[in-house]
This record gives sequence, structure tokens and C-alpha cells, in this order.
Amino acid sequence: MKILILNGSPTPNGNTAALAQAFKEGAESKGHEVTLLNVARKKVNGCLGCNYCHGHNSQCVQKDDMQEIYPYLMDTEMIVFASPIYYFTMSAQLQSVIQRFYAINHPPKAKYSALLLSSYSPDVYNGSIAQYKDMIGYMGITDKGIVVADNSTNKTPAKLAEAKTLGASL
Ligand SMILES: Cc1cc2nc3c(=O)[nH]c(=O)nc-3n(C[C@H](O)[C@H](O)[C@H](O)COP(=O)(O)O)c2cc1C
Repeated sequence: MKILILNGSPTPNGNTAALAQAFKEGAESKGHEVTLLNVARKKVNGCLGCNYCHGHNSQCVQKDDMQEIYPYLMDTEMIVFASPIYYFTMSAQLQSVIQRFYAINHPPKAKYSALLLSSYSPDVYNGSIAQYKDMIGYMGITDKGIVVADNSTNKTPAKLAEAKTLGASL
């Protein structure tokens, strides 16, 4: 199936990128078509809440880098949210992308999702996991797994294997 990974970390080759890459390798090993988008350095504004999209065939009035991301969202069967923890939640950059889903309401073909989180401290994931579960419930998407890594496990072979195994389990 087509899988879209939205990496919300601005750090090239960082801890979140490592989780995303390991997941991608696992999924590709089973023949899935994986697209990894590093969204954090793109220019994606927050949603204006103007509802232009609802009168204009789901087209967003803001012509920023989100326009590059919408075609992938429209076509994907699985969506993977990958993010560093910033102040107990997913990065602002990824939140902007998520809130710009508003124009299309939700990725129309997406049936499955996963969540990959990296932090410094352990036990800082409650907010992100609650948001993720509420969001996919609203979208009618089924969770396939959550991988979290903190300073004691970031980029360790065992943690990368966990992410890879999740990808390969699909
Ligand atoms: C702005 C900012 C806020 C952060 N807030 C938290 C936090 O609330 N809890 C935590 O454990 N780590 C926090 N961190 C640390 C990152 O989550 C951690 O270093 C993560 O592994 C970074 O992933 P990356 O390599 O993909 O950038 C923060 C880092 C930054 C830059």
C-alpha cells in the first residue's frame, strides 16, 4: 500500500528522522510504497479558519508549501506521524500540517496510521498520544502502532529495530 510519513522534526538526520527511516525500511521490505516528507522546514502556515476551502472544492486559500503535501494526503492509504516532543506535544510544524487537513477534512483513502515520537525525557507522550488517538478516531483510521524513544533509547539498535519491525508488520 501507499504509506506517507510526515516527519515533523527540523533536525536533519536527527532522532525522529532515524525512527522514520527505520520504519520506512521495514515497510519497503514488505513491498509497500513509502514517501517520507520532511515537513518541518517547509513553509506551512496555520489554518486561517476562513472556510474558503468549503466553498471551493477543498482548495485551501493559502498558496504555501502545504500545496505540495495535499496530493500525497489525497492518495495515501496509511499516514505516519513522526515528531520530536516539543513542550509535551508534537512539533508546531507538524501541528500546522495536521490542522491544514481541514481543507480536505481527512486523507480520504487512509485506513491505517502509526505514530513515531522522540524526546529527551521519558513519560512525556501523554498529550501527543491522546491527540493522535482522538484524531484518528475522528478520521476513521486504525492505529497500527506507536514507537517512542527518549534519551536512553534514541537511535539505539533496539529502538530502530522496533520501528523497522512495525514497518515490516504491515
Ligand atoms: C523546542 C524544544 C522543545 C522540547 N521539549 C521537550 C519536552 O517537552 N520534553 C522532552 O523530553 N524533550 C523535549 N525536547 C527535546 C527533544 O524532544 C529531543 O531532543 C528529540 O530527540 C529531538 O528529536 P530530533 O533529533 O528529531 O530533533 C525539546 C526540544 C526542543 C528543541
